[in-house]
Amino acid sequence: MTAESVSASPVRFDSVTKRYPGADSVAVEELSFEVPAGEICVLVGPSGCGKTTALRMVNRTVEMTSGDILIGGRSVKEGDPARLRREIGYVIQQIGLFPHRTISQNIGTVPALLGWDKERIAARAAELLELIGLDPEYGDRYPAQLSGGQQQRVGVARALAVDPPVMLMDEPFGAIDPINRSRLQNEFLRLQAELKKTVLFVTHDVDEAIKMGDRVAVLKKGGHLAQYATPTELLMEPADDFVEDFVGADRALKRLALMRVRDVDLWTAPLAQAGDPAEPVRTAVAAAEVPHALLVDAENRPLGWLSARDLDGEQVPATPDSVADPLIDADSVLRDGLASLLQSGSLYAPVVDARGRLAGVLSVEIVSDFLASDEASESELTAAERPHD
Ligand SMILES: Nc1ncnc2c1ncn2[C@@H]1O[C@H](COP(=O)(O)OP(=O)(O)OP(=O)(O)O)[C@@H](O)[C@H]1O
Ligand SMILES: [Mg+2]
Repeated sequence: MTAESVSASPVRFDSVTKRYPGADSVAVEELSFEVPAGEICVLVGPSGCGKTTALRMVNRTVEMTSGDILIGGRSVKEGDPARLRREIGYVIQQIGLFPHRTISQNIGTVPALLGWDKERIAARAAELLELIGLDPEYGDRYPAQLSGGQQQRVGVARALAVDPPVMLMDEPFGAIDPINRSRLQNEFLRLQAELKKTVLFVTHDVDEAIKMGDRVAVLKKGGHLAQYATPTELLMEPADDFVEDFVGADRALKRLALMRVRDVDLWTAPLAQAGDPAEPVRTAVAAAEVPHALLVDAENRPLGWLSARDLDGEQVPATPDSVADPLIDADSVLRDGLASLLQSGSLYAPVVDARGRLAGVLSVEIVSDFLASDEASESELTAAERPHD
């Protein structure tokens, strides 16, 4: 296995146990599960249940007591631990950027250790900056000159620098405020859709686990695996009282986190551009699903809602009565879309794609219909998610 030839590998935990020297009880006990290549597996559970320990045994920053971990079928015990640490991307909660090195130097840390030449490191850093959506000039800044969320993105870029077969992420968004956390989560999922890395992701937040995980491993104290399942299964059929408690009483609402806004049938609103004749827009509004017209620019990006007063004249004005706020990201989960609607007090809001172009309109009614139908299709979904039953 070399860092550059493998872009994603499966990871298998095989009866992995960790007993720290002098400790009365084990930190992780007989942990077994397999993460298919290219999937995100979230380890979730209460504080002290062994999540970080489990993660760190993958790159041997913690040595296991017994059992084995296989990456792409090969034991991590074979070969040199220092090399393993370089090859596996690792993102930690405290971000851990080097304060006296520029962003580009931070991203190039491992490539430099691997002896890449300067041009190659610079090219890779530039490529990764673009990937995480930071302008090239950020490369010359120092970590303290970036926001927490931007630093976190750089942490992800640094972990991706040598195209690792496996990424370990330990509460990567833990220190970020809820709004930016949700944005970083979406951004990471968008990145992952392209990169298809095998990711082991630790959190103690079950909502984050449900949102981010293709599979979720719920751990209880002593590193026991309580359940290993898809998010849907976890919500529909918690394996025991511990998991049920941990997942929470609002399981139905949590199902909103399994659905992306782009995947529901959105409503359509009448559209108009500045300078259009107002009369046909007035007619369209009278018959529309959404009883207001949206002003859009030539690229179909929403600018605002047109009020009756806006449409009084001959022509559609260039500036509407109310700006389009909130705008909902089509990649966000339904739960976050609903939260935006409720916070703004609006019954509907335009949904936009990654480039800001209109994808449809989300309404509170769409969400409540989804919840109602979700109950009805529960048994169907569960059957579909459980191929082995
Ligand atoms: N270096 C160590 N020496 C001895 N015991 C340790 C060491 N590191 C962790 N432990 C113990 O092992 C157990 C698991 O710790 P770990 O850090 O893996 O938990 P965690 O699930 O990541 O918790 P948190 O959510 O608080 O980060 C805890 O009881 C902890 O006290
Ligand atoms: Mg931890």
